[in-house]
Amino acid sequence: MPAKPGPVIRGTLVPGHLKAKSVSGYVDSACGIGLLVQWAYCRIDRPLTSVYRAMQRVQSPLDNNFSMSRLAMGLWRLVDWDYAPQQLVALTESLLELGVTTFDLADIYGDYRCEALYGEALRLEPALRGEMEIVSKCGIKLCGSDNDFRLNHYDSSAAHVTASVDSSLAKLGTDYLDLLLLHRPDPLMDADSLAAALQGLLEAGKVRAVGVSNFLPHQFELLQSRLQAPLVVNQIEVSPLHSQPMFDGQLDFCQRQNVVPMAWSPFAGGELFTGTGEAARRVQACLEELGAELGLEPQQVALAWLMRHPSTMVPVLGSGKIDRLKSAVAAASVDLPLETWFQLLRAARGRDVD
Ligand SMILES: NC(=O)c1ccc[n+]([C@@H]2O[C@H](COP(=O)([O-])OP(=O)(O)OC[C@H]3O[C@@H](n4cnc5c(N)ncnc54)[C@H](OP(=O)(O)O)[C@@H]3O)[C@@H](O)[C@H]2O)c1
Repeated sequence: MPAKPGPVIRGTLVPGHLKAKSVSGYVDSACGIGLLVQWAYCRIDRPLTSVYRAMQRVQSPLDNNFSMSRLAMGLWRLVDWDYAPQQLVALTESLLELGVTTFDLADIYGDYRCEALYGEALRLEPALRGEMEIVSKCGIKLCGSDNDFRLNHYDSSAAHVTASVDSSLAKLGTDYLDLLLLHRPDPLMDADSLAAALQGLLEAGKVRAVGVSNFLPHQFELLQSRLQAPLVVNQIEVSPLHSQPMFDGQLDFCQRQNVVPMAWSPFAGGELFTGTGEAARRVQACLEELGAELGLEPQQVALAWLMRHPSTMVPVLGSGKIDRLKSAVAAASVDLPLETWFQLLRAARGRDVD
């Protein structure tokens, strides 16, 4: 049987999918280059409820009802940003306006506080909820101020996963998660009972889609073999300083299985710009050089590099600064020349390809 095509990028007009009015135009990126983009008012497959403009979207080939924005916003560092709920509303509105509609969380983020903080913001502006996809994760138990765990450990039991989703929903003040991810592969994972729990959450409408994070292909296959619903996403670490998934089969597997990869820490947690290790310094110099050559910011070159990969990975942005986020969005329209792509790969790995 021929394989289905991979994740589909949507953004230009697709009759019947984009119920939208499109406007083509040149938009000046933060660094002043003109980029031709297609802007579309409103959301894919949803009624016209707002004037938020959508950037390209990634449609899961495995689930017609699941799509996400081409870039996602990560909220792991939310506590560090120290934003008041009103400021979080403003940040969210700006991102939606830019077309970044997918927001990534986990039960454990910020010592278990991020979901509640973000929930406070959503309660101030309830209409935002319908304009976004919320991703959250569970399965890790971290020692924190709110619990008495003896050590950090995993818990992928049906009872914990179900309770964790209920807690996420209560903290966020929402009835459903758009996507639930099992945060890490658990050596004690009982695939049958976990699959039954995930299926139950889907049937109850508490989660609309399910996936995993940091799973290797064989771990993915085990869980999928017991689960009727598709695992639509594997969220893994990918950046120029962590390019192994491009070579060790992880991203090939995603393409083979039509799973959308989300790339966490796309800037290696900031190391791409501030790291002092040998590889980081080589990458910094290369990003500066290529940026100057192409009229792009270094971070735009790094993002365009990730997004040129044929797996259609969705980078999860981690900055809390709107200017950096705007420049990231502009990078989504950059098509990096082939040799430029290999120049950054060479800098990252410290050697030419064979
Ligand atoms: N599934 C998982 O296991 C997992 C693990 C880790 C993360 N994640 C997800 O991935 C998201 C992103 O991860 P991340 O925060 O590590 O992403 P990242 O983009 O690699 O790193 C963000 C850090 O880089 C800094 N930064 C960004 N642009 C910069 C620039 N141009 N110059 C200097 N510093 C810059 C940011 O500082 P500023 O805020 O000052 O810009 C921030 O401290 C998280 O929020 C989370 O949702 C998932």
